[in-house]
Amino acid sequence: MIRHSALDPGARELVQAARAVRRRAHAPYSGFKVGAALRSRDGRIFTGCNVENASLGATVCAERGALMQAVAAGARRGQLQQLAIFTTDSQPARPCGMCLQVLVEFARDLPLLLANGRGVECVRLKELLPWPFEGFPPRRR
Ligand code: THU
Repeated sequence: MIRHSALDPGARELVQAARAVRRRAHAPYSGFKVGAALRSRDGRIFTGCNVENASLGATVCAERGALMQAVAAGARRGQLQQLAIFTTDSQPARPCGMCLQVLVEFARDLPLLLANGRGVECVRLKELLPWPFEGFPPRRR
């Protein structure tokens, strides 16, 4: 884990955006609030927070919320640059398997900034999901 101050200004801004949107999370069932901020190559930042549901299964994670915002605003496959995820847990959260699969549809190897108040872990999507489902029949991108 590295300190927030060790990040380059763009990455620090992205982590701050994830931290800010986390406050809007709707998490009355788990109490676990997550914020995500996704930067597209043209520099725009898209944010999302987890939105839970009484059914539990209809809950949407922060990461997918941010991705939907980006796609709806015109970001296409290959145009995503970096994703920051902010929680206050002692261990920064990694995206769940469903979010990894949804993210890999748009970026094969997205750099991820997994952050909490203490610092940031830098990993890549490919490390967390080296062998995604690639469609049927299997296709190369
Ligand atoms: N959650 C996220 O939003 N992102 C993650 O990376 C991990 C899990 C949410 C889903 C649910 O609202 C709560 O955290 C507990 O799982």
